Amino acid sequence: MRYSIVFLWCVCFISCNTIKKDEVKKVDEALVMYEFSEMALLMEEMYKTNENLKKKIINKEDIGEFSDKFLNIHSAVLTDPKDRNSSFEIFSKAFIENQQAVFTASENEVKEQFNIMVNACVACHKTTCLGPIPRIKKLLIK
Ligand code: HEC
Repeated sequence: MRYSIVFLWCVCFISCNTIKKDEVKKVDEALVMYEFSEMALLMEEMYKTNENLKKKIINKEDIGEFSDKFLNIHSAVLTDPKDRNSSFEIFSKAFIENQQAVFTASENEVKEQFNIMVNACVACHKTTCLGPIPRIKKLLIK
């Protein structure tokens, strides 16, 4: 009798623990979904596009054209809509101008212009969203 009680207690303990883990996972997933605002998705896309662009510049390949999707920075919905203030507008305009300038730069200037553009990402991030700065700095061409 005693043994079976201990056994039951074990089974219950183990299964309760498993349920808890699943619940925690669900909450985590919900948080992750919540974090990806329209702007966060656009930022991730901008990151990938510029990662590719960096490779092309280093390998001296054709870099193609400025992509209009970057212009969505002026309208994409932010996680915290209050972040879109007048300084955000100034930083996003400066960033877009520098991103466009990468595509019109001469072969000698393209690397420097690319780095200026990356620093424009960092400049805005210093005012709004510090977290991704170390990751963004990895884009810089040495
Ligand atoms: C005008 C300001 C501004 C500029 C310019 C800017 N960012 Fe951001 N970035 C933000 C803000 C604000 C967020 C947070 C977005 C949100 O949570 O809605 C963000 C979020 C991010 C994220 C995190 C997205 C996520 O997974 O949650 C990355 C990565 C990122 N930016 C990279 C970049 C890169 C790369 C550039 C330049 C090519 C750039 N950013 C230019 C303001 C800016």
